[in-house]
Amino acid sequence: MILDHLLARAASRLAAAGSPSPRLDAEVLLCHALGVDRTWLYTWGDRQAPSIERARFEALVAARAQGRPIAYLTGEREFWGLALATSPHTLIPRPDTECLVEAALARAAAPEGRLLDLGTGTGAIALAFASERPGWSVLGVDIRPEAVGLAVHNATRLGIANAAFRESDWFAALTDDECFDLIVSNPPYIAADDPHLAQGDVRFEPHSALVAADGGLFDLRHLVREAGRHLLPGGWLMLEHGFEQAEAVRGVFEAAGYVEVASRVDLGGHARVSLGRRVDDETGAERP
Ligand SMILES: C[S@@+](CC[C@H](N)C(=O)[O-])C[C@H]1O[C@@H](n2cnc3c(N)ncnc32)[C@H](O)[C@@H]1O
Repeated sequence: MILDHLLARAASRLAAAGSPSPRLDAEVLLCHALGVDRTWLYTWGDRQAPSIERARFEALVAARAQGRPIAYLTGEREFWGLALATSPHTLIPRPDTECLVEAALARAAAPEGRLLDLGTGTGAIALAFASERPGWSVLGVDIRPEAVGLAVHNATRLGIANAAFRESDWFAALTDDECFDLIVSNPPYIAADDPHLAQGDVRFEPHSALVAADGGLFDLRHLVREAGRHLLPGGWLMLEHGFEQAEAVRGVFEAAGYVEVASRVDLGGHARVSLGRRVDDETGAERP
């Protein structure tokens, strides 16, 4: 069977299985099975499919038809223009999270500084920021050792030398004197009874990356309360959250004494990142 026909057949199978992007899925999986890019596929679609690659492709299509995320099947997802290895031990990076990277970069005008990324997963936020600010020192932490290993692997294969990674339950593995200009996080923030957990890719992602107690706010509250001890005076804390959580999260920032508390909207117009600045303990003044 020629590649074009194989593709068309797979696309209709994936459409029947409910994929929202069946043709694209089929193309990405066929490219992965053949080890080629999509330009090659568009150019050589009239070639016969080699049998080993065809069997590999059929297996990938079958897994996708069961709902398995494309990024887990190919082992890769692009974020901030960086090709990141993915694994079922952590979240697949989402384009929405680029809003948090943009917010962090906007507060990182100095040529040098320190950024902490809590719950780093693939290292997406830490590596995107580190790639844009080579003079900064970036630390990413995650409670899951597999995620830490994945982030280290991504840093190595991307040649990003100013980011390090450590296993830690939020701030637990940090020493008291480890302080940062910026602390960022995309923590778990989905309520355990949220119906979205039974839909799409999230069905296959670990609950440890997604779900938080107290209607999704438990970890967000914890991070706001604890971050002050590791923020330099005048430093910023920035958190991604659900689109209905902005008001609650800003309230937690304000109750904890942060100033200049605000939210940022993503490309869809939803407030998905909230931030606040730590005032100087001694003088009550903000750092210039
Ligand atoms: C929503 S995912 C974000 C992953 C990545 N930062 C991103 O944006 O793609 C949340 C991450 O937080 C980690 N995590 C959950 N609880 C944690 C804890 N108590 N301490 C540190 N990391 C935690 C999870 O393992 C997961 O990798």
